[in-house]
Amino acid sequence: MDFSIKPIDAKSAATGHKATKTACLIVGVFENKKLSAAAASLDGAGLIAAALKAGDISGKAGSTLLLRKPEGVAAERVLLVGLGEEAAEISEKAYNSAIGAAARALSALGAADTVIALPAVKAQSVQWSVRTAVLAFRESIFRADGLKSKKDTTPVTLKKIAFSVAQSDATAARNALAQAVAMANGVDLAKELGNLPANYCTPTHLANTAKQIAADYGMTAEILDKKQIQALKMGSFLSVAAGAIEPPKFIVLKHNGGKAKDAPVVLVGKGITFDTGGISLKPGLNMDEMKFDMSGAGSVLGTMRAIGEMKLKLNVIGVIPACENMPAGNATRPGDIVTSMSGQTIEILNTDAEGRLILCDALTYTERFKPAAVIDIATLTGACVTALGYHNSGLFTRHDDAHDALADELLAAGKESGDTAWRMPIGELYNDQLKSNFADMANIGGPAGGSITAACFLERFTKKYTWAHLDVAGTASRSGAAKGSTGRPVPLLTTFLINRAG
Ligand code: BES
Ligand code: MN
Ligand code: ZN
Repeated sequence: MDFSIKPIDAKSAATGHKATKTACLIVGVFENKKLSAAAASLDGAGLIAAALKAGDISGKAGSTLLLRKPEGVAAERVLLVGLGEEAAEISEKAYNSAIGAAARALSALGAADTVIALPAVKAQSVQWSVRTAVLAFRESIFRADGLKSKKDTTPVTLKKIAFSVAQSDATAARNALAQAVAMANGVDLAKELGNLPANYCTPTHLANTAKQIAADYGMTAEILDKKQIQALKMGSFLSVAAGAIEPPKFIVLKHNGGKAKDAPVVLVGKGITFDTGGISLKPGLNMDEMKFDMSGAGSVLGTMRAIGEMKLKLNVIGVIPACENMPAGNATRPGDIVTSMSGQTIEILNTDAEGRLILCDALTYTERFKPAAVIDIATLTGACVTALGYHNSGLFTRHDDAHDALADELLAAGKESGDTAWRMPIGELYNDQLKSNFADMANIGGPAGGSITAACFLERFTKKYTWAHLDVAGTASRSGAAKGSTGRPVPLLTTFLINRAG
């Protein structure tokens, strides 16, 4: 799928889109039967107005009507999409539904190329419109049939998508387009890794993916094996890997896009390639979905790929502790006490609370980078799904000025990219729940506020830098008929980094 920017030149500024040659021109109409400016510019013969009047299209956001070769129009087809209430600048919601409806309609058409000529969106830049549409169109053609012996053979006919923009917006739109395509590629990588089952997506596979990204985009990848992880005294990480035959890997991927002396942003991703729960074994129903437990790692790799492709001028390091959580004769038992790389001891009361056990050592390791900010991303708790559902990732940081600023940056990046997060509290009272009679802390804090006590656990390993935690248990994948990875939070993270790079 090829995207491009089509600036409105002097000629088309005069005649509107009448002369636009394309297999399918997309223009908007409103619920009150009014036409958008682009639609009106086509309607010399009054065909569109008549279709609206006759009720062939309601104009409600997301409604569509296809017209073939309207009189006096160069395009082979005109796709009318409803934009809801009339406005010179439409709402984000109307734009989202219009783009979604257009993508759906086009997937059922024989059109090989299209030109999108929708109105500007209220309080949003042309960059936003372009990025939103690119992500939606790419989402609409994503297929997860890599391991089916019979591939989905319905061809994707739509090859070229052009955005009609004002001449003055063309440069900004082109830059936005390059970034949006890179972001979509990053989302696709995260989805592919997430969907890949644990017998393919092993810690070694994640490490090889990091090496490939390094080779493709001029980054450096360092892969530490079990011996090196032992030498670093990552007793907590290794306790999770203990029962697995599949070897653990500790992955460090560096993008040096900024000045050498600039402190990096570090992304730390949970890379549990399968979470059985360990000796605290999970129930069987839907356990297959625990292949998605490396989605944090997948989102780090997806984001690194995206910023590599866009050559982002920022130093960013991806850190991924990767292993399986398996039951076995040599697996960690409930009650076992382990010593983390930080020296703090942990009583493992539940081996299914393993994400925090691998992340804490990765967070300690991260101190060496003297980071400007650290964000960890993890499918950490079912409790986060209970708290926030499937729509928002949970965002946790300390509550002081520096961390409030980081939280605001992340929340804004989430809103901007449509990949939203919601801030949750942490603090002393919740921390009390992590008391252990035998070690410095327990790895669980009981059923109350489970996503919060998990964040409090991580916070104890992040005292030396500015840190935020994203719990993506509810957002990184979908269950049921639409089962699959979403690629979240690659859009949030990439947007955050783009904004940081300035
Ligand atoms: N990977 C799970 C969390 C999870 C649950 C992700 C559902 C996605 C969907 C995590 O390792 C886990 O098992 N957490 C436990 C923690 C509990 C034992 C304190 C949980 O949420 O039940
Ligand atoms: Mn678990
Ligand atoms: Zn897990």
